[in-house]
Amino acid sequence: MKEYQAAGAAEFSAARGETMWNAVHTTKDGPMSCNTCHTANLKSQGKHVVTGKVIEPMAPSANPQRLTDPKFVEKWFKRNCKETLERECTPQEKGDFLSFLSGK
Ligand code: HEC
Repeated sequence: MKEYQAAGAAEFSAARGETMWNAVHTTKDGPMSCNTCHTANLKSQGKHVVTGKVIEPMAPSANPQRLTDPKFVEKWFKRNCKETLERECTPQEKGDFLSFLSGK
């Protein structure tokens, strides 16, 4: 997460990340939040709301592969933020999300 700090982000907050994770946004595909696909219980499997494909648990404690590849993380932040917030996430938001997710 150093690169986000270098991009001007302040300290990260897991609590803020959790609030954002559950926040519902109105999108062209209907109401959308991060947990629409990933579920609010990060230790259980999610399901893609459009394709129906299974998404493995987001919590590193349940799925050790999670958050281990920065390129993969960036790629999906880009797509998922656009789908949920209809814009890219800021470095601050990404750091807050990762603080929240990595503790799970
Ligand atoms: C429309 C469905 C959908 C929504 C909504 C969604 N995601 Fe995802 N997300 C995926 C899919 C599909 C993947 C890639 C497959 C996988 O990692 O299992 C993924 C992967 C990720 C990853 C990569 C995890 C890793 O292992 O490195 C992160 C981080 C992530 N999402 C965060 C978010 C955040 C934050 C939000 C809300 C802003 C969000 N997602 C909303 C479907 C979604």
